[in-house]
Amino acid sequence: MGVMTVGSMDRALADIESIVGSAHLLTDPAITASYSTDWTGRFRGETPAVVRPSDRDQVAAIVRVCRDARVAIVPQGGNTGLVGGSVPLAGEIVLSLRRLDALGDVDERALQVTSGAGVTLGRLQQHVASGGLAYGIDLAARDTATIGGTIATNAGGIHLLRFGGTRQQVLGVEAVLGDGSIVSHLDGLPKDNTGYHLASLLCGSEGTLAVITAARLHLVPRYESVVVALVAFATVADAVAGVALARRRLDCLSAAELMFADGLALVCEAEDLPQPFALPHPVYVLLEAADHVDPVDRFAHVVEAMRGTLDVAVATESARRGELWAYREAHTLAINTLGTPHKLDVTIPVAALAPFIEEVREVVSAVEPDACTWLFGHVADGNIHVNITGADIASTSVDDCVFALVQHYGGSISAEHGIGTAKKPWLHLNRSSSEIETFRRIKKAFDPAGILNPNVLLP
Ligand code: FAD
Ligand code: MLT
Ligand code: ZN
Repeated sequence: MGVMTVGSMDRALADIESIVGSAHLLTDPAITASYSTDWTGRFRGETPAVVRPSDRDQVAAIVRVCRDARVAIVPQGGNTGLVGGSVPLAGEIVLSLRRLDALGDVDERALQVTSGAGVTLGRLQQHVASGGLAYGIDLAARDTATIGGTIATNAGGIHLLRFGGTRQQVLGVEAVLGDGSIVSHLDGLPKDNTGYHLASLLCGSEGTLAVITAARLHLVPRYESVVVALVAFATVADAVAGVALARRRLDCLSAAELMFADGLALVCEAEDLPQPFALPHPVYVLLEAADHVDPVDRFAHVVEAMRGTLDVAVATESARRGELWAYREAHTLAINTLGTPHKLDVTIPVAALAPFIEEVREVVSAVEPDACTWLFGHVADGNIHVNITGADIASTSVDDCVFALVQHYGGSISAEHGIGTAKKPWLHLNRSSSEIETFRRIKKAFDPAGILNPNVLLP
């Protein structure tokens, strides 16, 4: 991007104010601070302004002003992203999409809905529930994370093993490209082979190609009969085999989440929760099955057939299910109470999960003897969240050694959180130079002036 002067920024902000009104151009640092710091507290920036448009046309007009003035933009939804991609680390303006929160009628025949980018996952779930439907993506930040943000990160979450990731839910998008033009394809035809699928490309684009303003989303049935079990295992290998058995035998399996004794003890302490069993166990898997017909008996048979189980707690009633889920979902918050962690969200081929988990703590200890390594994740997807506390947050030594192990086992350095600014130096571990060069050419086509999240994703 060309050099921008204070004068041209001031003129751009005046033009933007005339588009959104002064109430929606926030410049007071006391107010913009929460938009400039990420959820973990690791990434803190500053911004000349947070802009809060109300609709697609305002977004397009703002992008055109920024294109002409060469002002960089960070699109932002709920600001729950975990890789430093949603905050202004180089003085960008923040384009907050939260006011784009319109929801269309639920199409109960097509199982679809159109959602504004600023709608939270939780609100979308409520909106579609009355039609006996649900949205296939769910994650612990559900009440803050937005549809636009989850598309931009191609969020995975807890139900990916059953319904797929965000890319599988998005039939079409409406978005503003970096030159201010609008692309819109929201008719929702499930079969429509008429050229490039721009919605798929925008999934995982992390705000670098376009500002997503709305999306046509595929919905799934809402199952009323739900059972959750916390199953304790002696070893990771037993846990992985147990989950594989459940996946083969239970069509209605909707979650399989991995935890360990140390993480669960930390959650109990941080959240003041009782230990789930009389004695701690090495490995825990939280399983969930959901169906129209009560799945409890089928579920119980499968759990009984698992090898190496040490204890089981089962819940069918909603409040008790929530208590079991809290052991898993509170990991992120509990770990953050120890200080800002290195958050490494990796995928390993499922067959290599057990050796990876055994070795990863050792490789971290070898470079940072005082660091603690916390592991949890979406085990059916091979997605382990490696969180490291007690290591210098500015040093990359733990990142380097964990990513080297991930590469050794043929995994990915980002399963579901994206690259953001946090993982940029390691993108080459998963993407060849010709792929990265192709990314750059795509970026140029969508965002010729290079104003959309220019400091994210591409090294
Ligand atoms: P933001 O954080 O605001 O933005 C994320 C990225 O998307 C940024 O690069 C931003 O520029 C871009 N962006 C945002 N909105 C738009 C838009 N409208 N158009 C273009 N670009 C945009 N992730 C998972 O995948 N699975 C999980 O299980 C999971 N659990 C989480 C649990 C917790 C407690 C937290 C805090 C986070 C979790 N996440 C998880 C991280 C996850 O990336 C986000 O929660 C979610 O996808 C981001 O949505 P958001 O609206 O907060 O986006
Ligand atoms: C999770 O699965 O809980 C999330 O991805 C958040 C995290 O990694 O901390
Ligand atoms: Zn996750």
